[in-house]
Amino acid sequence: VSLAVGKDGGNKSSPLLYGMMFEEMNHSGDGGIHGQLLQNNGFQGSTLGMTSYAPVGDAKISQDISKPVSAAIKSSLIVSVPEGVSDYVGFANTGYNGVPVMNATYNTSFWMMGDYSGIINIQLIGSHSGIVYADHNLTVKSTASNFTQFSASFNSTESPDGDNEWHLTFDGSKVAGSSLNFGYVQLFPPTYHNRENGLRKDIATVLEEVNSTFLRFPGGNNLEGLQVDSRWKWNTTIGPLVDRPGRDSDWFYPNTDALGLDEYLWWCEDMKMTPLLAVWAGKSYGDILSGPDLEPYIDDVMNELEYILGNSTTPQGKIRAQNGRKDPWKVDYVEIGNEDDLTRGCATYPDRFNQIYKAIHDKYPHITLIASNGDYNCLLSPLPEGVIIDLHLYRQPDDFVALFNQFDNQPRNQSVMIGEYGCRNTTDAKGTYWSFLQGSCSEAVYMIGMERNSDIVKMAAYAPMLEHFGFISWSPTLYGFDSSPGSITPSTSYFVQQMFASNKGDTILPVKSSSAFGPVYWVASRTDAQYFVKLANYGPDEQNVTVSIPDTHSGRLEMLAGTQFQANQPHNVTIRTVTSNVQGDGGKYTVTMTPWAIAALAVS
Ligand code: AHR
Repeated sequence: VSLAVGKDGGNKSSPLLYGMMFEEMNHSGDGGIHGQLLQNNGFQGSTLGMTSYAPVGDAKISQDISKPVSAAIKSSLIVSVPEGVSDYVGFANTGYNGVPVMNATYNTSFWMMGDYSGIINIQLIGSHSGIVYADHNLTVKSTASNFTQFSASFNSTESPDGDNEWHLTFDGSKVAGSSLNFGYVQLFPPTYHNRENGLRKDIATVLEEVNSTFLRFPGGNNLEGLQVDSRWKWNTTIGPLVDRPGRDSDWFYPNTDALGLDEYLWWCEDMKMTPLLAVWAGKSYGDILSGPDLEPYIDDVMNELEYILGNSTTPQGKIRAQNGRKDPWKVDYVEIGNEDDLTRGCATYPDRFNQIYKAIHDKYPHITLIASNGDYNCLLSPLPEGVIIDLHLYRQPDDFVALFNQFDNQPRNQSVMIGEYGCRNTTDAKGTYWSFLQGSCSEAVYMIGMERNSDIVKMAAYAPMLEHFGFISWSPTLYGFDSSPGSITPSTSYFVQQMFASNKGDTILPVKSSSAFGPVYWVASRTDAQYFVKLANYGPDEQNVTVSIPDTHSGRLEMLAGTQFQANQPHNVTIRTVTSNVQGDGGKYTVTMTPWAIAALAVS
């Protein structure tokens, strides 16, 4: 295949094109990218019971609803010590299938009630090996009248595996025949940008390296709620952690909401991603609210936006300032709902959208609003100017490739976002599997189609982002992890996202080719400084591609290659992008594309 890249003449390309979607699922947040490592740390939600707690030494433990830590954290852990005990006793928390123990400084904290003056011992210890990796004493004075919070910082050495737990013990002889209560326990490793209540540095850094432009949050289904009352409620995810009740989520486990609205916005700011906030639009799985019934919830959305955007003299902006963020956040994109063509949402969505659109647009005309589906039967007609429509596509490989030219003949005055997409083998019994090269190549072909049309395809978010290998309800995801060292595993799709986001110009260029698209697909773009050509070979035969790019001499070639079904399995990364330097022969570059390979050329 010969490609001759033109110097100019193409369409503009959206600077936001390659972004990410995040929602709490697969323990992507709690026990995942959010730094806190102890599971069930506030007994939130209705399903966990005593999950992840165990007694240490001669003590008995149970959940105690008679001693709530706060109005939001409605119970604590009672540790009862039998008469005659003389050793240290207490309790363990086993984390999310183990606690990752690294060579690092950890911060821990807990609330405590009961008469006790003396030492509390904290350990990070192998659950089965008994090897102690960290051992730290702090001296506390706790009273029976109220809960007091204590915290400590300590160093740990690295455990070779994830089979570890956190221990809190105290001098049993001082409590023999009595009890102490503990609540809202926390353990943090180093956090991304050293934020308090921040993201896990190791997991966040791998995401940062994708170079995504925006983050769509907090869902996804998890925005909607199984019932109206269990929807994602912004105002219970802000402020002190001990005031956040958490909720039973859409993805089968309680959410702590420690990763709340402000934490999402810090995440975006620290990672230089544009926030795309989805707001609740009246649809839960149980009920759909519309018309006058929706009005109070629209007020709630407006309060949410005042909290984010209002200056610190507004009622909500003042609360934000008290919560540690004086300056308004910058939020320019708001999506109204999630998949409102589904779950009986279609019939009422045009009106619900209109109600919310008007309220937001009147007060914040700078915000670009996004409609949460692309089915014209479920959309307001006509859509107000500037509204983007959101399409979600989970497809098998050939189906993605068949959609390569989906946007070629779309009207140029209607912008779209692909708010979720990913290659998924839905014939698998559980619908779960790990990304493999052909599937990721099919995503690359589809992305080339998007990029060629990125005058109207403004944003696209691979989804879902992350899975804890021990808690998978949906895969594949971009990357995954568990509690053991070196477990963070980028999928083949991770490398496609990274390659595409990192090699993109602001203008798409025309290309003259010796053959039609397929099996080789391409898109060319440029900035003032560089030319970029992306290639995908969706086929079983090797292809030699000659690319001529005017006025260029050299640069680099990024290549993701392997066999058709090759995948990066948990703990076993066998495919990653390989980068080499390239020298042009009078502006000509020859690229050998092995079957299913994906490549990007960046030259000047
Ligand atoms: O990404 C997984 C789910 O797929 C999202 O929660 C939902 O929006 C979509 O159906």
